Amino acid sequence: MKISVKNLDRLLDKMGVKGGDSVGTAYAGMVRARKVKSNATAVVDVFDSPAAIAINEARMSHLASLALPLAGKRVLDVGCGVGHLAAYLAKLGCTVTCVDGREENIALLQQRHRHFEAHVANVERDPLSALGTFEVVFSYGLLYHLENPMAALRNMASVCGQMMLLETIICDHTAPLLRLEDEYLAANEALTSTSCRPTPSYVALALNRSGFAHVYTPRVPPDHQDFRFEWQNNLDSQRDGHPLRAVFVASRARIDNPQLRSMLKD
Ligand SMILES: C[S@@+](CC[C@H](N)C(=O)[O-])C[C@H]1O[C@@H](n2cnc3c(N)ncnc32)[C@H](O)[C@@H]1O
Repeated sequence: MKISVKNLDRLLDKMGVKGGDSVGTAYAGMVRARKVKSNATAVVDVFDSPAAIAINEARMSHLASLALPLAGKRVLDVGCGVGHLAAYLAKLGCTVTCVDGREENIALLQQRHRHFEAHVANVERDPLSALGTFEVVFSYGLLYHLENPMAALRNMASVCGQMMLLETIICDHTAPLLRLEDEYLAANEALTSTSCRPTPSYVALALNRSGFAHVYTPRVPPDHQDFRFEWQNNLDSQRDGHPLRAVFVASRARIDNPQLRSMLKD
């Protein structure tokens, strides 16, 4: 399916790219000047809101339904926030190390979960190898907050022995694209307020090129509106008032699990 010029104009307009009436001039056009906005919501409010709890429940019961061999694994939770999902992984029997780019999130996590090893690091800049190696790297809700997701995926892959579990807001298109986006500065958002919306094929390509021979997506997505939508190939990253999200499983070895669909073709 092709994206229509009307749709592209609508999108470019939303992004502040002034295109006039021709797509050709839009690409060489002007963009909206940066105005960083802050969302002063307290850390605890963004991570503990009913909406955050609802999506976490959907994500975690979905992860459980995939029946992946996680018990007993050493797991690095990248972009861990205040540790809600790390706590769930610990309940599954994982030994979890947490890392987040914000000191205040790690401080709150350490108040709540004294037994978790936790570190402050920017996954786009700081080598994760300083933390050791892990059988599983888990990163839900982080990728779309990054300026350079490929660099971050390579960093995460460098410490990942077996499997990477990834969840992100995506951009609805079949081509391997990345939309650059502005974000608010807030405890649960991008460190720099510049972020991205990758398409699913971008994520699959980036995971494969960063060293994972096998990349899958679950056949059935989590039971939450953000994951349940019709693909329209129109570059949306939100629709009907909610973001569009997807889950990916990357692995060094082939996983024989009927619930997973391969994203790679020969
Ligand atoms: C939406 S929250 C997700 C928190 C948790 N994973 C969850 O899903 O509930 C995104 C987290 O990523 C962190 N983050 C953003 N950019 C980062 C970066 N470059 N390196 C490390 N952490 C980052 C933020 O501080 C925030 O805690």
